[in-house]
Amino acid sequence: MRPPSRSPARPQPPEPLGTATRRASLRLLDAVLRRGEALEAALPAATRALHGGPDRGLAHAIAAETLRRLPDLDRLIDSATRLPLAPDAKARGALRIALAQVLGLGTPPHAAIATVLPLVDGGPRKLVHGVFGTLMRSEATLPRVPTPPAEVAERWGEAWGGAMLGAAAAAIAAPPPLDLSLADPAATDSWAQRLGGTSLLPGHVRLHDPAPVPELPGYADGGWWVQDVAASLPVRLLGPAQGAALDLCAAPGGKTCQLAAAGWQVTAIDQSAPRLDRLRANLARTGLTAEVVQADILAWVPPAPADAVLIDAPCSATGIFRRHPDVLYRAHPRLIADMAGLQARILSRAADWVRPGGRLVYATCSLEPAEGETQLEAFLAARPDYRLADPHEIAPGLSGPVIRTLPGRWAAEGGCDGFFMAALDRR
Ligand SMILES: C[S@@+](CC[C@H](N)C(=O)[O-])C[C@H]1O[C@@H](n2cnc3c(N)ncnc32)[C@H](O)[C@@H]1O
Repeated sequence: MRPPSRSPARPQPPEPLGTATRRASLRLLDAVLRRGEALEAALPAATRALHGGPDRGLAHAIAAETLRRLPDLDRLIDSATRLPLAPDAKARGALRIALAQVLGLGTPPHAAIATVLPLVDGGPRKLVHGVFGTLMRSEATLPRVPTPPAEVAERWGEAWGGAMLGAAAAAIAAPPPLDLSLADPAATDSWAQRLGGTSLLPGHVRLHDPAPVPELPGYADGGWWVQDVAASLPVRLLGPAQGAALDLCAAPGGKTCQLAAAGWQVTAIDQSAPRLDRLRANLARTGLTAEVVQADILAWVPPAPADAVLIDAPCSATGIFRRHPDVLYRAHPRLIADMAGLQARILSRAADWVRPGGRLVYATCSLEPAEGETQLEAFLAARPDYRLADPHEIAPGLSGPVIRTLPGRWAAEGGCDGFFMAALDRR
């Protein structure tokens, strides 16, 4: 029997250049918004089909810009159609990334729409074309200060008030400046000059419009490493180096480098092998030394109590929303509660590893009181062998034993990450 004759497949017109990049951006958004993955963690799979670093970088930049502006983009989209579009409708996704490019990244409208239309078929394609055209003709714009997602606005507004929320909203708008920590704080002025930066604290240099990190002066010599100024405060809270320090949850090693540079004998522990590879690379580049241990803090036991223990605990990471806007959509109450439980377990184990008279610093890059203030209160109630360290100045205008950085601090200078940290002394 002869096989039924088939009409030859109609040749498809080639996709406009750049459509694969936008498809990757949509995959990234799906990973964050639907599956709750971290944007950076989703990059390898979502951008596998792309050939070069610049295309991957662009896919990432479009997704990040869309996340910074999501509530405002959705408001624009909804204002231009009477059809109710589901949050995960393909047409909404395509419109979000097309508008984020034009209104946020300055892409010409024709380029943004031409590369996005092939991502939707049939009726939705017409809808995307129509809504986009309507918004372009009406010269739609985004508000100067982004609108934070409703859940985050409610939670932070309740915890910290309107001023913090206003500062946080303003800080969502763009990635922050690049901060470097110096191995030799005495050389702050000369590094600031050499790098063309400014300094907020001894040992810190800030660059507002930096070249790629490996191209910056001094990268190969290892005199500095990348670290937000707020992230550099917990090690300062430990006080002058005086012996052995355990750096728990250490990778990728910003605080390990800081401890080693300050003169502590450091043991750095983390459970993540790939993150420890980055820690080892940071140590190798800076010429600093630490013993590196891959272990689960919940199972590991140190050979001897230490003079100092630093816990940079895993957390919701809401304090780093400026660099990682995906946390605004992933840090739901359930995750925050789970993280707070994990932090309490880590704290309670690690508290036994500080010698009497030694110091424990607990830190999280979180803007959630449950991962900071409440955690500290519960710890002090459970551990009468600990007390808050005496008040002490760690830099001009900054004093311990408890430091909370909120959006708004150093705002005129470019801001800083949200952090909580406390120094505790064992009796
Ligand atoms: C906030 S990050 C640490 C950042 C690091 N201290 C720095 O300054 O570069 C938290 C780290 O905790 C690690 N971690 C989470 N749970 C852990 C556990 N049970 N045992 C060991 N490490 C853990 C993660 O792998 C992650 O690297």
